Amino acid sequence: MELEYEHTWEANVNFWEERWSLGQTGWHNQAVNENLQRHHHVLFTEESPRILVPLCGKTLDMPWLSAQGATIVGVDLVAQALKEFINEHNLSVNETTTDTLTHYTNDRWHLIQGNIFDTTADQIGMVDAIFDRAALVALPLDSRTKYAGHCLSLLKEGGKILLITYDSPVADNQGPPFPVRNGTVERLYAEATSCVQIDEIITHKADDQRLQKRNLDWSRADIWEITK
Ligand SMILES: C[S@@+](CC[C@H](N)C(=O)[O-])C[C@H]1O[C@@H](n2cnc3c(N)ncnc32)[C@H](O)[C@@H]1O
Repeated sequence: MELEYEHTWEANVNFWEERWSLGQTGWHNQAVNENLQRHHHVLFTEESPRILVPLCGKTLDMPWLSAQGATIVGVDLVAQALKEFINEHNLSVNETTTDTLTHYTNDRWHLIQGNIFDTTADQIGMVDAIFDRAALVALPLDSRTKYAGHCLSLLKEGGKILLITYDSPVADNQGPPFPVRNGTVERLYAEATSCVQIDEIITHKADDQRLQKRNLDWSRADIWEITK
């Protein structure tokens, strides 16, 4: 079944640009993701890894990863997201444009405005690790396989992905975030050397305002360690 914002690429771009311009960014947290804090060691197999944060928005997970010693490569479709991030964190960056991408860079940061699928290894370089929170689950269902392959194409051999997916009692096409059912991640990352679920957090409606607002009885976050 087609999703409303999936009909055309333009509609998808408009959907996200509108969410940002209307301030409808309910996914954005004022705190660093707890699962990242608990499992960040997955991403730090070396002291100063270059970490890709696909579909980054202006997540506070990026400055936190930077403070742990990482160089950050953040990619988002919407210029407003990156501009707000740069302003709010007082980053001094150079702006350059190549083909379809706009790059904001300094020696610790590489923020890229553009479609994640346009960020080839030639354009942005390989990364040591990828942190995926609210990225896979935000993409149209029919681009998931392509997305997983794309992430692996940007990751060096032996590199790690720390992935967070969500499941809840909603239809497959109800989102974003779109639910990720049992068996999906293993299938998407079948080309990886290993794909292991390392944690599971179940939240119940009574304990969570977001679930109450969406009238959902429960949701489950699954945490994955994927090795290329
Ligand atoms: C649900 S938000 C998650 C943001 C961030 N990961 C976080 O945890 O706060 C998804 C973000 O992906 C961006 N986005 C959607 N489609 C994209 C695409 N094809 N390429 C790059 N960014 C995209 C949107 O603009 C939005 O900021």
